[in-house]
Amino acid sequence: MKFFDDDFEAQVRSERRRWLVTGAAGFIGSNIAEALLRADQEVVAFDNFATGHQRNLDELLAGLTDAQRDSFHFAEADIRNRDDCMEAVKGVDFILHQAALGSVPRSLADPLSSHDANVNGFINMLEAARQANVSRFVYAASSSTYGDEPNLPKREDRIGNALSPYAATKLINEIYAGVYARSYGFKAAGLRYFNVFGPRQDPDGAYAAVIPAWARAMLTDQDVIVNGDGETSRDFCFVANAVQANVRAALAPEVAQNEVYNVAVGDRSTLNDLFKLIRSELEQHQISYKKDPVYRDFRPGDVRHSLADISKAGRLMGYRPTHTLESGMRIALPWYIQHFRRGGF
Ligand SMILES: NC(=O)c1ccc[n+]([C@@H]2O[C@H](COP(=O)([O-])OP(=O)(O)OC[C@H]3O[C@@H](n4cnc5c(N)ncnc54)[C@H](O)[C@@H]3O)[C@@H](O)[C@H]2O)c1
Repeated sequence: MKFFDDDFEAQVRSERRRWLVTGAAGFIGSNIAEALLRADQEVVAFDNFATGHQRNLDELLAGLTDAQRDSFHFAEADIRNRDDCMEAVKGVDFILHQAALGSVPRSLADPLSSHDANVNGFINMLEAARQANVSRFVYAASSSTYGDEPNLPKREDRIGNALSPYAATKLINEIYAGVYARSYGFKAAGLRYFNVFGPRQDPDGAYAAVIPAWARAMLTDQDVIVNGDGETSRDFCFVANAVQANVRAALAPEVAQNEVYNVAVGDRSTLNDLFKLIRSELEQHQISYKKDPVYRDFRPGDVRHSLADISKAGRLMGYRPTHTLESGMRIALPWYIQHFRRGGF
């Protein structure tokens, strides 16, 4: 998979730097680590395997040269532990902080665990970065921060009320990053991801994201469950776009720091459209799914429509999505087929 266009790839390669990626055994973190290593960067990474997997680390290392593999330094560690954070930041140029407990429903079921990882863990990393004088701190924020703000497209400066503990934790991250900027001259950039999807996204459990959950359901001939009437819409963002945004945010000039950015494609699809797209893409691989979707109640805490205005990320840090939902799906689906088809993991 190509993570960067040629110009940006050359820019990343122009200097060898040391990057810290937290949550590197997870979906987005493992893709970021892979992209950086393939661009001959040095990557320090950690994860406590709360929702991440060793198999993601094995897979990301599998396609690398020996030299690239030697540039990867992984430790099992926890952002809730201050000493772990202080140890990890030593000598790093940039931090791409992905570690958190994702999922709106998980946070509604267990708000304290989400708070612990996403708020206490976050400030541990922020403080460790400040003490170590790390030049840039890029962190995973979330489109859930828009909450009940009804206007589309979502613009960074217009947010509503948070609708879940998860959204509250991500908003608190933004507030703390802003406070560190004003109080200490710290340089941080928050990336509000909109429904990221792609290889290595976990299909398991009650908190699985919609695309891997549905792909696996179709590949194993299970029911596809739709929460609500299927007209809920999302700005689905292929993971290579999210990887690009992280690296651009770290390398962007000073004027682009201490901002939050939407990271998406700037297009939206309904769940009903998504169902049809996955089914028709599977047909390209001679896999047919004949069942209709099963509609259930709307899920509490979910927002109805989501669509990002991505012009700010384009203007200030040169972000341009390289993949649409359709082109990303053509990369993600073969991976899902390979991993999910006969039970997989
Ligand atoms: N996937 C999306 O669509 C999406 C959307 C908005 C925001 N985000 C955010 O992006 C980030 C990455 O999400 P993802 O989709 O890759 O999820 P993921 O669950 O695959 O990755 C998160 C990783 O963080 C690790 N982690 C959790 N708690 C930790 C702790 N206390 N110490 C160390 N590691 C810990 C997990 O083990 C996991 O590997 C998260 O901050 C998430 O909130 C994701």
